[in-house]
Amino acid sequence: MLQTLHQTAGVGCGMSETLACLRWSVLLGLSVALLWIPGAAGSALNCHKTCICASNIVSCSKMNLTAVPTELPPYTVVLDLSYNEITRLRAEWTHDKLDKLQNLLLSHNGLHFLSSEAFLNAKQLRYLDLSSNKLRLLDEYIFEPLAHLEVLLLYNNHISQIDRLAFTGVNSLQKLYLSQNLVSRFPLELVADKSRLEKLILLDVSSNRIKALPVAELQALPAWIKNGLYFHNNPLVCGCDLYSLLAHWYIRKLNSARDFRDDYQCYLPAPAPAKTLVGVFELSSDYMNCSTFKQTDEEAFLEQTLTLSCDTKHKDMSKTWLMPGNVVVSAGINQTARVLPDGRLQISPVRSEDSGNYTCFAVSEAHNETLYVVLKVHNFTMNAGGDSLNTAYTTLVGCLASAVLVLIYLYLTPCRCFCCPDRGKKGGDDSIHSSMISVTPTHDDPALKAELDRHVAFIDSKDLRGQNGKLNPNGDEEEPDEEAGMLGKGRRRRSVAESISSVFSDTPMVV
Ligand SMILES: *[C@@H]1O[C@H](CO)[C@@H](O)[C@H](O)[C@H]1NC(C)=O
Ligand SMILES: *[C@@H]1O[C@H](CO)[C@@H](O)[C@H](O)[C@H]1NC(C)=O
Ligand SMILES: *[C@@H]1O[C@H](CO)[C@@H](O)[C@H](O)[C@H]1NC(C)=O
Ligand SMILES: *[C@@H]1O[C@H](CO)[C@@H](O)[C@H](O)[C@H]1NC(C)=O
Ligand SMILES: *[C@@H]1O[C@H](CO)[C@@H](O)[C@H](O)[C@H]1NC(C)=O
Ligand SMILES: *[C@@H]1O[C@H](CO)[C@@H](O)[C@H](O)[C@H]1NC(C)=O
Repeated sequence: MLQTLHQTAGVGCGMSETLACLRWSVLLGLSVALLWIPGAAGSALNCHKTCICASNIVSCSKMNLTAVPTELPPYTVVLDLSYNEITRLRAEWTHDKLDKLQNLLLSHNGLHFLSSEAFLNAKQLRYLDLSSNKLRLLDEYIFEPLAHLEVLLLYNNHISQIDRLAFTGVNSLQKLYLSQNLVSRFPLELVADKSRLEKLILLDVSSNRIKALPVAELQALPAWIKNGLYFHNNPLVCGCDLYSLLAHWYIRKLNSARDFRDDYQCYLPAPAPAKTLVGVFELSSDYMNCSTFKQTDEEAFLEQTLTLSCDTKHKDMSKTWLMPGNVVVSAGINQTARVLPDGRLQISPVRSEDSGNYTCFAVSEAHNETLYVVLKVHNFTMNAGGDSLNTAYTTLVGCLASAVLVLIYLYLTPCRCFCCPDRGKKGGDDSIHSSMISVTPTHDDPALKAELDRHVAFIDSKDLRGQNGKLNPNGDEEEPDEEAGMLGKGRRRRSVAESISSVFSDTPMVV
């Protein structure tokens, strides 16, 4: 550009005025050079010198460009600006709308600034490569205009902060690569909760600075998200929960655990010498004695409605189920099991013959998977748990109940319950009650209450006799208690009922 200007200026000059002319042209050149300060604006697209234009592809890779060329044709679909020196992507990098632009490649540029309006004129982008640059933070709403973006490459930058709203609006995003940055917080909001990106199947936060993971939340995610959740090469702190998480993923053959098995490492906690790095998969035996992971079976009770999920590694697969005994579940046949629209299997009501090994076949265009779910049906209903209990279990429950009863009795005794009727409630029995009631979903069931009362009547008389040392020959429940009176007794009975119900539901119902 400078040369061209110089020549044009030089043409009109006579030989005698060479010196003045030279000075003038140098001045002109300088002022032009000032106007074209790198980064302020690019030069117009030159499809012969700086870029290669192949119909709708514009490739300007490795041309020492300091700014995006201007006057890009509106039909551009691919714009390759990788390996240049574009350090800032301003709002005005393109003045015209590039409505056809789908791929924008800006890797290896030393980019350290992204305008919040940088993508307003390129809203149709589907693939954005910002990898190997010098980005430090991702501001809120930075990618918001990119509603069609499917792949975003941000690896090998200096990103340490990701605003929780940075990816708001990028609702088509399927793959997000954040590897090799300085991220220290796992961006759970991208995969869980309401803010999650619905279509995200790959999130790579490997080789960052993450020390702690939200293990329970990650384990609860569907397998098709976990399959593409890469977090190896982070300075994680060892723990059996971490081991259990990865061991499960490995057994499920999830890609993230399988492909990088040896890259999952962690630092042993305190008693070990500082900075002892070990493989997560070695935790089970060598370092922390984490118990070996075992897949748990599904458990159910008679007459319950049960839903089995077919937690496939891939999304959007069509699923068919085989019941134990290779009975195909299909609509139309009179079966207690049916396949829900989302592919889960619903069994209602559960019968004891429903126990066994269920098979889910999942197929899609590219993949197929077979999953097994083992179901164990207990031979009693969830509510009427006591009916078919064997003697050993009854004894166990009886013992627990009497223990609880004694505790309550001791606690209530100093209180003359007529004068302070609320104290007992606030104290021990209620805390026992509330700590256990949280796991009991069936308390409001009147049938259950009746059922429990029946049991209580039995345990109550027996235990009062045993624990109080007072023999009640008739086993007469209604006889007024000298110490507590009817009211206290009534309450005590109810609390026992509740405690027993808690024991019932809190204890795994294993026969
Ligand atoms: C870019 O700059 C480097 C070093 O300054 C030089 O060697 C290379 O030839 C330049 N490339 C182009 C296409 O001008
Ligand atoms: C693990 O268990 C073995 C034997 O069972 C024992 O020798 C070892 O000290 C235990 N290691 C830890 C870290 O508890
Ligand atoms: C389906 O089977 C159940 C018992 O197996 C029976 O009570 C019910 O009437 C049947 N329904 C139809 C539509 O055949
Ligand atoms: C379920 O059945 C499949 C195929 O028959 C078998 O490979 C698998 O081991 C069974 N699972 C269990 C827990 O029995
Ligand atoms: C499932 O995939 C395996 C290998 O990937 C292939 O051999 C098999 O034929 C496939 N089955 C179906 C039903 O597509
Ligand atoms: C379940 O209990 C009933 C009686 O309560 C019994 O007849 C039946 O055989 C039991 N079924 C199983 C699978 O244990």
